[in-house]
Amino acid sequence: MECDFISIKDLTLEEIEEIFTLTHQLKRDPEGFHKALEAKTLALIFEKPSNRTYVSFSVGMYQLGGNSIYLGPEQIKLGIRESIKDVAQTLSRYVEAIALRTSAHENVLEMARFATVPVINGLSELEHPCQALADIYTLREKLGDIKGKTLSYIGDGNNVCNSLMHICSKMGMNMNVAAPLGYEPHSGVLKEVNLFHQPQEAVKGADVIYTDVWASMGHEKETGVRKKAFGGFQINKNLTGLAKKGALIMHCLPAHRGEEITDEVIDSDNSIVFDQAENRMHVQKAILIKLMGDKK
Ligand code: CP
Ligand code: NVA
Repeated sequence: MECDFISIKDLTLEEIEEIFTLTHQLKRDPEGFHKALEAKTLALIFEKPSNRTYVSFSVGMYQLGGNSIYLGPEQIKLGIRESIKDVAQTLSRYVEAIALRTSAHENVLEMARFATVPVINGLSELEHPCQALADIYTLREKLGDIKGKTLSYIGDGNNVCNSLMHICSKMGMNMNVAAPLGYEPHSGVLKEVNLFHQPQEAVKGADVIYTDVWASMGHEKETGVRKKAFGGFQINKNLTGLAKKGALIMHCLPAHRGEEITDEVIDSDNSIVFDQAENRMHVQKAILIKLMGDKK
């Protein structure tokens, strides 16, 4: 594994399997790893809000015998109070890894360029790689062999969608994406999926239906415009009825219930959204050990 974790593109299939094997061990025997990162510290620089990413990294570090420090938007003020380059070099003298949640993907790359410790992408505008790894791990738990299965992503072609596209392609899953015109995924990943503009077309034959909010963090001002553009892209009973019987329902959370997904669907027996959330922590513990653990 490279010394940073910034994009799903950074991982080979073999490395993904290694992370999943370690994740499985961590879930089965958490006690066995309670000193894995003893006396090590992870800095969590968050320029945006978070529940799952922040809590799962913090608790994960604690469970591995280490420590984490939260640096919110008011503390570091990346690029305003101090350059990313100087923050990276300073923090590298104190901590053993840095997780960064920011807007511009370039910020994560710059942090990694100047940090001498591993940098983890905790979400950028372009990717949410920790989410995608946890999602596929969860699907493997639920479905066993996922090769050849179809995941249909309905909604905004955003960070979550981009990372899913990369990982589905690596894992041999088919991915359909239905996004309104102008909200398609990043062009660099489009060759990896079947693109639709009608959700009804995209969910046909789906084993899994995935969605995310219509207005991601930083795009709140566009909420009104986006609600109009995404009308018809809601995951509801009518839409899920067109997928395979028993198709699993996924959402990275937080969900805007009643917008991109109805209560009825997200609370249904087929919904695995909280398993995804739980697995964020297990998968990230594996990533932390791979990046921060003593290299034998
Ligand atoms: N899915 C996810 O990353 O959630 P948070 O924004 O709450 O961290
Ligand atoms: N696409 C969402 C994901 C949140 C976990 C956002 O960027 O806000």
